[in-house]
Amino acid sequence: MRLVKLLANLGYGSRKEMQLAIRNGWVTDKYGNRLKADSRTAHEDILFDDEPLDPAQGVVILMNKPVGYTCSAKNQGRLVYDLLPDRFRVRKPALSTIGRLDKETSGLLLFTDDGTFLHRVISPKSEVPKVYDVSLDRPMTGTETDLFASGEMMLESEEKPLKPAELEVIEERAARLTLHEGRYHQVRRMFAATGNHVTELKRSRIGSLGLEGVDEGSWKVVSEEEKALIFS
Ligand code: URA
Repeated sequence: MRLVKLLANLGYGSRKEMQLAIRNGWVTDKYGNRLKADSRTAHEDILFDDEPLDPAQGVVILMNKPVGYTCSAKNQGRLVYDLLPDRFRVRKPALSTIGRLDKETSGLLLFTDDGTFLHRVISPKSEVPKVYDVSLDRPMTGTETDLFASGEMMLESEEKPLKPAELEVIEERAARLTLHEGRYHQVRRMFAATGNHVTELKRSRIGSLGLEGVDEGSWKVVSEEEKALIFS
């Protein structure tokens, strides 16, 4: 891809502005050589204003989402995109979240601009396990583990039973729940069906990929090895 288009797609500015940036010598290779509009330098070797370029198309980002941020731009208030650099909002192709977390849910949220990868993660066929740490308003009754694992649990206004889910009881009001699908408000609705109420909810894993090293409100680019962890 031509340099002007590449930079414009990454959100550094309009094509006109990028032509100017190249002419002004703001775009260099890692040795400080000025690049021209038709230069064919590897993405990872290009610097803009002395900083390495943002990741190329096909990026996957992992965020440790704090409570209080919504995933959908349709909602008002703070958006998860507010926690990423402004440029990322205008990248082409656009970055989307891979599935969603409720405003009041924290933890592991993925973004990508790679539609194939997104579908692979959310496809029911992939059955990628998602692990949630749950705090509850009341002690569990003791029936939850079997009910959630039964493959027969029906949620209100749904037509298909839930896939079996694994519940690990940690304390009488704290548990870890592993789901293999993603229905609307699923964790909260599962516990509500048992007469309980989720007071805190955090997603800690997708597949074997966790939040290690990423503080709340921060994010990182997911490496190829880490991508593979999602499916292992
Ligand atoms: N289940 C929920 O209830 N909320 C989430 O955000 C994710 C799973």
